[in-house]
Amino acid sequence: MAPQLSWIGLGNMGRGMCVNLVEKGKLDKPLIIFNRTTKRAEDFSAKLGAGKSEVASSIGDAVKSSDIIFICLGDDKAVNETIDTALKEDVKGKLFVDCSTVHPETSNALAKTIGAKGAEFVAMPVFGAPAMAEAGSLICVLAGPGSSINKVKPYTTGVIGRANIDYSDQEPGQATLLKIIGNTFVINMVESLGEGHTLAERSGLGSENLHKWIETMFPGPYTAYSSRMMAGDYYKRDEPLFGVDLARKDAGHALDLAKKSGGVKLGALEIADKHLVEVKKHLGAKGDLPSIYGAVRKESGLKFENKD
Ligand SMILES: NC(=O)c1ccc[n+]([C@@H]2O[C@H](COP(=O)([O-])OP(=O)(O)OC[C@H]3O[C@@H](n4cnc5c(N)ncnc54)[C@H](OP(=O)(O)O)[C@@H]3O)[C@@H](O)[C@H]2O)c1
Repeated sequence: MAPQLSWIGLGNMGRGMCVNLVEKGKLDKPLIIFNRTTKRAEDFSAKLGAGKSEVASSIGDAVKSSDIIFICLGDDKAVNETIDTALKEDVKGKLFVDCSTVHPETSNALAKTIGAKGAEFVAMPVFGAPAMAEAGSLICVLAGPGSSINKVKPYTTGVIGRANIDYSDQEPGQATLLKIIGNTFVINMVESLGEGHTLAERSGLGSENLHKWIETMFPGPYTAYSSRMMAGDYYKRDEPLFGVDLARKDAGHALDLAKKSGGVKLGALEIADKHLVEVKKHLGAKGDLPSIYGAVRKESGLKFENKD
């Protein structure tokens, strides 16, 4: 019999991962889902189709009926509060898997509090945008006891992910440490693209000409973010794909880790974070990671928006 799974957190990433779990996860019972905003869970459950999922009325209900509980929430505070609530139940023998991007110290502290209740914990942050979550092509980073990781792997490669980075028997915080360092690459990539497109426009090369080179030289995420910048998608969408608050959380964790690691200097990230502050001022919660382009444009004497 397959374990009963539940999923807490149906944001941009959680929804995509759940679609793949119910389609390819060989579940023999409906996936139990819970979201702080219940309507989101109900709408999503209807979209998944009859018999694929059941909406839990509380975190406790989701946890009580499950063997493996996946969590994918915005930030450390949300994860800590959710786990505190979950641990009010009898969780002995259950496995918690946190897919959120949190500070490594948070992951290691969770492992202790969850372990003290007789349950298991694996940190499994993921790399990839929401479209990759929907396509089941994320990169899953797993850290924690090898025996616990083995219980999670049937739901990773070929289900929600295209590859695993397996840190079996290492502290859970190693997975989130990689995730935070990895996201500095993503944020700095977007900063470079924003600066490059701004210079291309002001110097007379033109964005289209720059984009032809990006497509040839850097297919993949560079090209995807470049396309979104050129289309004005960085300020036009109602809901961000990589919200400004999430991006600033990740940058903040990286800067904190740098400070605590002998005073490493992350100058490029500091500049990108300054642009994210401007993004939040200009677009509020609609601000997205690629909106950094608008902030660089503004700083360079252009309009934040690149279309009329
Ligand atoms: N977006 C990306 O490109 C990306 C890629 C890889 C990893 N991640 C990471 O994956 C996690 C989820 O990202 P996302 O893009 O799915 O975020 P999102 O779309 O903003 O969704 C956030 C989720 O967390 C819930 N939440 C937020 N604060 C909460 C609180 N205080 N208590 C309970 N629930 C709370 C939200 O519930 P409501 O629906 O009620 O608001 C929602 O389910 C984050 O840690 C993010 O850094 C994101």
